[in-house]
Amino acid sequence: KGKRAFIAGVADDNGYGWAIAKSLAAAGAEIIVGTWVPALNIFESSLRRGKFHESQALPNGSLMEIAKIYPLDAVFDNPEDVPEDIKTNKRYAGSTNWTVQEVAESVKKDFGTIDILVHSLANGPEVSKPLLETSRKGYLAALSASSYSYISLLKHFVPIMNPGGSSISLTYIASERIIPGYGGGMSSAKAALESDTRVLAFEAGRKNKIRVNTISAGPLRSRAAKAIGFIDMMIDYSLANAPLQKELSAVEVGNAAAFLASPLASAISGSVIYVDNGLDAMGVGV
Ligand code: NAI
Repeated sequence: KGKRAFIAGVADDNGYGWAIAKSLAAAGAEIIVGTWVPALNIFESSLRRGKFHESQALPNGSLMEIAKIYPLDAVFDNPEDVPEDIKTNKRYAGSTNWTVQEVAESVKKDFGTIDILVHSLANGPEVSKPLLETSRKGYLAALSASSYSYISLLKHFVPIMNPGGSSISLTYIASERIIPGYGGGMSSAKAALESDTRVLAFEAGRKNKIRVNTISAGPLRSRAAKAIGFIDMMIDYSLANAPLQKELSAVEVGNAAAFLASPLASAISGSVIYVDNGLDAMGVGV
């Protein structure tokens, strides 16, 4: 029987979430996604108009199908958490049931269970500020959107995940080495995400036989990365310094995710897996 994957954090065809969806689809999984509420309309209409047609093509010539798209804001766990200004915000008004708990309930109602959970989202409102200049509010917002969002997703989805299931998030080496420019507490958020990966692997492994891993990905020119502002420099740096001198393609991260989600990785849990052309292994630039 085919597996079913829920991928949180897909809103266009440029990011890691989309590439992971494609690799999982190519391996035979049914794909459902969670899309950030303010980005939902554009994503759905672009899909409908065939804007992603070319990038929906799978290696066997068929097109990736998305069985269902759920509006999601992973910063809110349930309706009681949603403040008035968001409730009345125009960009949220057209959607319902987009808190983490409600999305998990909807997926359960529509599909019953899932096998694979992917967290491919992050947000740090002060990412362009150095840590020393980051406000408490900005720091906590980065942690809420980029780290706690994963705990919340797992907490609400684990009950509908089949035993033997697998969960994956995306992290960045700024968690453990100094990457000037990755500010606003985003480096801290990735450090928390990696630490949580270990603890959650223990808890979800013992309780539900679910594996939890994170992929430390190299630089990709995604929408989120372009917003940070230094992505071209990071790609050039990797080309110049990594053991493998090629631009990292999102597909390579997608394929690693498909491996981690598969029985081929049945003994891997609690790990940070580097998919970065080997850059993490370098001690100095060359
Ligand atoms: P992306 O822009 O394709 O994905 C980020 C997604 O998060 C977007 O679809 C955005 O709408 C969504 N999002 C933001 N706040 C949200 C919220 N509150 N609720 C639900 N969704 C929300 O960009 P990318 O780069 O593919 O990011 C995916 C993951 O990969 C992130 O965790 C990022 O930190 C990580 N990563 C990216 C690298 C890069 O160079 N692009 C390098 C290493 C890790």
